[in-house]
Amino acid sequence: MHDDHDEISNESGNKLFSDIVNARATRRGFVVGSLGAAALTFVGASQAQANPNKGPNNNSGKGKGADKGLIGFTSIPLNGGPYPTIAPEYALAAILPWREKIDGSGESYPYNLTSEQQEKAIGLGHDGMWLFNDEVLCLNLEYGTNYHMFGRNDVRSLEEVRTVQAAHGVAVVALQRTGDTFKMKRDRRNRRIHVNTPVEFSGPAAGSDLLVTKIDNHNPKGTVNNCSMGHTPWGTYLTCEENFDQYFGSKDKSWTASDEQKRMSISGPNEGAGYGWFDYDDRFDLAKNENEDNRFGWVVEIDPQNPNAKPIKRTALGRFKHEGATVVEGIAKRIVVYSGDDERNEYIYKFVSAQNWRAMMARGKHPLDEGTLYVAEFKADGTGVWNELSPKNPKLADKTMDWILVNTRAAADIAGATKMDRPEWITVGQNQEVFCTLTNNTNPVGHPDRPANLANNADGHIVRWKDSRSHVGTSFEWDFFAIAKEVHDKDGQMFGSPDGIWADMKGRVFVETDGTQPGKNNDQLLVADQKTAEFKRLMTGVRGGEVTGITTADNQRVMLANIQHPGNGDPAVTDFPSAMLKDGQTVPRDATLVIVRKDKGIIGS
Ligand code: FEO
Ligand code: CA
Ligand code: CA
Repeated sequence: MHDDHDEISNESGNKLFSDIVNARATRRGFVVGSLGAAALTFVGASQAQANPNKGPNNNSGKGKGADKGLIGFTSIPLNGGPYPTIAPEYALAAILPWREKIDGSGESYPYNLTSEQQEKAIGLGHDGMWLFNDEVLCLNLEYGTNYHMFGRNDVRSLEEVRTVQAAHGVAVVALQRTGDTFKMKRDRRNRRIHVNTPVEFSGPAAGSDLLVTKIDNHNPKGTVNNCSMGHTPWGTYLTCEENFDQYFGSKDKSWTASDEQKRMSISGPNEGAGYGWFDYDDRFDLAKNENEDNRFGWVVEIDPQNPNAKPIKRTALGRFKHEGATVVEGIAKRIVVYSGDDERNEYIYKFVSAQNWRAMMARGKHPLDEGTLYVAEFKADGTGVWNELSPKNPKLADKTMDWILVNTRAAADIAGATKMDRPEWITVGQNQEVFCTLTNNTNPVGHPDRPANLANNADGHIVRWKDSRSHVGTSFEWDFFAIAKEVHDKDGQMFGSPDGIWADMKGRVFVETDGTQPGKNNDQLLVADQKTAEFKRLMTGVRGGEVTGITTADNQRVMLANIQHPGNGDPAVTDFPSAMLKDGQTVPRDATLVIVRKDKGIIGS
């Protein structure tokens, strides 16, 4: 989701990350302007600096394809054009455009398709995704506005609302390799999960009255605004519900939002970001259907192998604007899930399963249903603590567990969390280092004495930390990996607004952007050396579009990444991906890019 929906709902007195950063820089005797040099002392890292001649030869990739060094490709210039560009050693193909039928026929429904057709086709808003066993892809379809769908900003019927609802959600499709690209195949596992698909709740809040509604009673439906993701060691996909608030509101102008709703950015009857769903679908009218909003903002588990398995909303992971849900095995095989809440001044969370996940499953327990949820508090001395979100925390002793899980932001306010600069994706790289993109924060509230360059963090940064006890402890050490405005190549600043991030286990960190880039150029895909923080630009995206989602196949000899909202839906800006698919369509469509090295080498090398 691009960043024009970044309101502030956090009115707590909790500390801002920028204040902590400033205090930290001051304590060390550095002025804020040299923060990049000051901060990069974590586990022996050196300053972020592009060095095109460097490429440590520690790539462990074996087999076909030459080893070109860790990030040995030719870094390309920024680009503002209507089509993607890629490093000269690489090639690109496009697959899975909006409206492609999920029956594997290779055909697409026409523009102006019906809701019934959209329920059987790839939707809009390609975002987080994961390819299981080089075969079954789960693809988030985060959002598609009325303009993308109809070429105008309003909806005019329930059928139109249903069509937009069907474009949201997740696609599960089986792929088969054809040369340097993939195509969707006919497969029993292919399915669409959308806003009207039956789902279920699990975990500590599952039976809560807060999740019962008038219209569907105990039978919840749907997932929406599916942003980033996670994947589990037991082979399931986790899709994350981010800006769900923008689909809710009321036709009733006298309806007012509760404090809990305001804390989730639902402020009044005119909410809805122009989707207009509650004008035709009472389910999204909060005056008529109380609690429906409480059913969104969760992490949802999907079984990619079983098309009949209902998506399950895992309440133990809390409810907020989940960007992603990054899973790592902690000490003693406990499952740890890191998750950012992407809104200005929101928090970073961690869930730790109660026990070894295999042992839990052997006893019929689900590791994402029993465990402890924490929220991060960053300290100026480079340490941090995870504050428990449960009635066991004395500050939350008067709250019930279901209230804490449904109103997780409010609980985290009380527990004492650090307000971050819009946490987006999280990844775990070599040496168990955790990386989180803080995309930007152009308007943190309060604190007028903050230095100007931190008060307006328009470019974002990438923070990293090392958790205690292999991710299951309650403390961590943190520092910066990169501060966007200080990462330069010979042409100047390389990127702004980092969003997608994925580290391979060979020392490369892939970074995708969503926001204003230097020179107002297109969003991009960069690759950094985890040790040196040297960056190179691998790919640039499409004018008006965002680069989202990362997954790989064939032992990282293929990478998939998405172009979301190319041209912002405007045919005058681009017809992407028609030039690549040669299908003559004029309206731009979200699609997935297949990236290969021409010499079949490791992606990123
Ligand atoms: Fe859906 Fe925060 O990006
Ligand atoms: Ca994002
Ligand atoms: Ca973003």
